[in-house]
Amino acid sequence: MLRITKLGEEVLRKVAVEVKPEEINDEFRALCLEMFETMDEANGVGLAAPQVDISKRFFVVTADDDVRRVFVNPQIISTSSDLVDYEEGCLSIPKIYENIKRPSKVTVQALDENGKKFLLEADGLLARVIQHEYDHLDGIVFIDKGDPEFAKETEATMKKRAARYAEKQKAKEAKERKIAAIKAAKAAKGK
Ligand code: NI
Repeated sequence: MLRITKLGEEVLRKVAVEVKPEEINDEFRALCLEMFETMDEANGVGLAAPQVDISKRFFVVTADDDVRRVFVNPQIISTSSDLVDYEEGCLSIPKIYENIKRPSKVTVQALDENGKKFLLEADGLLARVIQHEYDHLDGIVFIDKGDPEFAKETEATMKKRAARYAEKQKAKEAKERKIAAIKAAKAAKGK
């Protein structure tokens, strides 16, 4: 399983870079599979590369039709003018949900996991998820499109959490280094 990044980590606020054609290979397809598995495990319907700490322009989606879709270097060609409300959540912002208005339909052009170009007209949940995941590639998260006060509060809380997590990781690594050093010293003594 891949670790899902959380709001407060820099990668989620960066504009991701395009995937180069030569990067769409077996290794890339294996990574996409791992992203699908990570997403399913977390009960998500979409997962963007920055959410697994990769600042590149691609995401995976399994919306209401259960089809696994990979979008590489996606471009939103058009959106419908009507806005619809839907309660969104995000694996990178656990336990936070908010009604967000977005266009009900979207036309997107992208490459699939084999580098083949496709055009997709989506509505319903699929259109919602595509727009949500697309935003991740530009460092945008769903709360940015909701109540600004709530977004500010949520981000501040998540930033504190991310800082605590980073500190814990640092302490864990220091402990591991210490144990390794003790083991090495013991092994040297035994010789
Ligand atoms: Ni998200």
